[in-house]
Amino acid sequence: REHLVIWLCLCFLSTEVCHALNVTVTPGPVVLVTENNNLTLSCLVSQRRRNTSVLILRWFFSPLMFLIVKMGIRKRKLYGNYTHRFPQPKFHLHEEMEGDVYRLRILSVTGLDQGFYSCKVQEIRKHRNTWRISSNGTSTTQLAGKKVYSFCSPCHIS
Ligand SMILES: *[C@@H]1O[C@H](CO)[C@@H](O)[C@H](O)[C@H]1NC(C)=O
Ligand SMILES: *[C@@H]1O[C@H](CO)[C@@H](O)[C@H](O)[C@H]1NC(C)=O
Ligand SMILES: *[C@@H]1O[C@H](CO)[C@@H](O)[C@H](O)[C@H]1NC(C)=O
Ligand SMILES: *[C@@H]1O[C@H](CO)[C@@H](O)[C@H](O)[C@H]1NC(C)=O
Ligand SMILES: *[C@@H]1O[C@H](CO)[C@@H](O)[C@H](O)[C@H]1NC(C)=O
Repeated sequence: REHLVIWLCLCFLSTEVCHALNVTVTPGPVVLVTENNNLTLSCLVSQRRRNTSVLILRWFFSPLMFLIVKMGIRKRKLYGNYTHRFPQPKFHLHEEMEGDVYRLRILSVTGLDQGFYSCKVQEIRKHRNTWRISSNGTSTTQLAGKKVYSFCSPCHIS
């Protein structure tokens, strides 16, 4: 019984304990791609607390958490400075009309695109004229090249 009380208190104090957004990136946890192919990663969001809330979604590229794109209030898309490094269009965020699915298309994959792609989602809602985070979720997938070793210099020369 005490446990239940503690649990309910935790729920009350921290929405994270009871209402984590379910964010899933597919394919994952590792995706193998061939150089020069295009790749689409999908970010599926479920278990929203309210269907009237707003989602803020960000795709990051790690190790250094570079921002690829952010989708904010009113679905405005802002491509981050990581995207601006590429002379040609490289990333494209596309929202599915039904369900909360956000697809990131990566054009012409190269060895330099290997790393971790994370989809971070915050569910926010307006409370007395201020926006508050009501729930959070993150999911990551690793992009690895099929010809991983051809991307590095030879290590063993006999
Ligand atoms: C989260 O969503 C994914 C994809 O929709 C689903 O496979 C998984 O079972 C869900 N996890 C939980 C804890 O509900
Ligand atoms: C990748 O996408 C671009 C732009 O949509 C297209 O021109 C190209 O043919 C695609 N490449 C492959 C390998 O499908
Ligand atoms: C939100 O959910 C309520 C009940 O759960 C439903 O009546 C309403 O139509 C939903 N609104 C939207 C925008 O989906
Ligand atoms: C990207 O922009 C942020 C600030 O918006 C800055 O802190 C960061 O250093 C920039 N990263 C790169 C790779 O330019
Ligand atoms: C959401 O995540 C941020 C930082 O990642 C954290 O500060 C905040 O407390 C989280 N909010 C909820 C409601 O989970």
